[in-house]
Amino acid sequence: MKPDAPENWFEDIYADTDSSGKGVPWAKLVAAPLLVKWLDRRHPRGDGATALVVGCGLGDDAAELARRGFAVTAFDVAESAIALCRQRYPDLVIDWQVSELFDMPAAWSGAFDLVVEHRTVQSLPPDWQTRGMAAIADLVATAGTLLVIADLRAEGAAPEGPPWRLRPEELSAFTTAGLDEREIVISKVRHEPDRQRIVAAYGRD
Ligand SMILES: C[S@@+](CC[C@H](N)C(=O)[O-])C[C@H]1O[C@@H](n2cnc3c(N)ncnc32)[C@H](O)[C@@H]1O
Repeated sequence: MKPDAPENWFEDIYADTDSSGKGVPWAKLVAAPLLVKWLDRRHPRGDGATALVVGCGLGDDAAELARRGFAVTAFDVAESAIALCRQRYPDLVIDWQVSELFDMPAAWSGAFDLVVEHRTVQSLPPDWQTRGMAAIADLVATAGTLLVIADLRAEGAAPEGPPWRLRPEELSAFTTAGLDEREIVISKVRHEPDRQRIVAAYGRD
C-alpha cells in the first residue's frame, strides 16, 4: 500500500542525471562544508558509532561519515538517487536504502548514535515539516545526537518553495518530539549575504 507521504517529485530529477549530478539543483558532489566543520569540532572519528543520513541524495555526506569510521546507513525516497550512491561509492561500506521518511523500518526507531539531516525537511511541503521533524527525532538513540543543517527564510517571510526554507523557531518541533537542544549556530551563506543557514545539534538523554 502507498504510504501516507508527500508526492515524490525527486525521483524524476535523479532519473534524469548520472554520477555527475548534472541537473540536480542541490548537488555539490562534496560533503556539506558545515557538516565537515561540525564533525571536525565535535565528532572527528566515528569509532564504529552508528550514523544515519536522512534524504542522502547523491551520498556525499554519508561518504564523509563512513570515511571517518562511522557505521553508516543512508536513505532516500528516490530509487535513482540510491542507485547513483552505490555507483559513486562502490568501495565504501554504507547501508544504502530506498525509504520514505514517513514509512521507515521500525528497527530504525531509536537506533542511531548520530542522525544527520541536511536540507530534507525544507524539501517537504510546509504542512509535512513538523511530522518530518518528529519522524527524524525518533531515529536518535539514547545518548545520541541529531545534527540539522538547513537554509533559513527571513523573519516575516512566507514559506515559498521548494525549498520551503525554515524559521529557527520552527525547529522547536525537534524538542517537542523529545530531544534536548545542545547547540544552535546561524551563519551567513558565503557569497549570498542575504541568506542564512542554521546548524542545530540535539541530544537524547
Ligand atoms: C534538497 S535534497 C538534499 C539532498 C542532500 N541531503 C543534500 O543536502 O545534498 C532533499 C533530499 O531529500 C529526499 N527526500 C525528500 N523527501 C523525502 C522523504 N519523504 N523521504 C525520504 N527522502 C526524501 C530527496 O529525494 C532529496 O534527495
